[in-house]
Amino acid sequence: MKPRLSDLERLAREAGAILREGYNSEHQIKYKGVIDLVTEIDHASEAFLIKDIQAHFPDSHIFAEESGETKGAGEGIWYVDPLDGTVNYAHHVPVFCVSIAYASDGSVQLGAIYDPMRDEMFLAERGKGATLNGKPIRASSTTELTKSLLVTGFPYDTWDTKQDNFRNFEKLAKMTQGVRRLGSAALDCAYVASGRFDGFWELALRAWDIAAGGLIAEEAGARVTATDGAPDYISPPQSILAAAPGIYEEMKKVLNGG
Ligand code: IPD
Ligand code: CA
Ligand code: CA
Repeated sequence: MKPRLSDLERLAREAGAILREGYNSEHQIKYKGVIDLVTEIDHASEAFLIKDIQAHFPDSHIFAEESGETKGAGEGIWYVDPLDGTVNYAHHVPVFCVSIAYASDGSVQLGAIYDPMRDEMFLAERGKGATLNGKPIRASSTTELTKSLLVTGFPYDTWDTKQDNFRNFEKLAKMTQGVRRLGSAALDCAYVASGRFDGFWELALRAWDIAAGGLIAEEAGARVTATDGAPDYISPPQSILAAAPGIYEEMKKVLNGG
């Protein structure tokens, strides 16, 4: 059985409640890398999501951030980020979300991103548009970089990778109204979808960070590709450029050395 968008909405809202309830507690922080961390709430949210998905859709194949791949006989694939913005969460910065996507027939069909601190639910179904709390959203109509506000992110091994993104940050910061760094790739995409930001790019991500957000941004009219323009931004090596159509080409040029 295939899920409906309302199933993803319910899952995201319930996992979001787990994040909201745990927000003020003293967190148990464990390190997955030097600055890549995880809290007990990431695990609680993910355990809830996997159990509930398996209870309702027993043949599910799931990729989730903390437990990796759970094989299922079905054709559909779930991408689950139980808490996107963990570093913010661990520091009690209220910018984080739950991100859930469902792909079938080779592409993401359903996406839900829920920000429990603002009670904002971003949803999209392929071919049916994107909404924020039930109302249709559109990417911005900006055509000039100088009038744009962008957002980006950096990998957890910035000191150790050519993909550190600092050069791009510097270049685009000097060509725009600014480049923000929210710390949640899923919300970055959702904010491009709702026109709050004009463009988002990031070089090294995982499918669960951007599967839902990419669809929501596409359905809101943004252009969404890998940073080199390749249409597949879900398969490794993941990178994403999600931008208002009027500045997409210019951003792509800058990100590719132009
Ligand atoms: C991270 C956030 C961040 C992005 C990182 C991601 P996490 O996810 O989306 O904005 O820059 O690349 O890994 O660890 O908070 O789920
Ligand atoms: Ca993430
Ligand atoms: Ca996460």
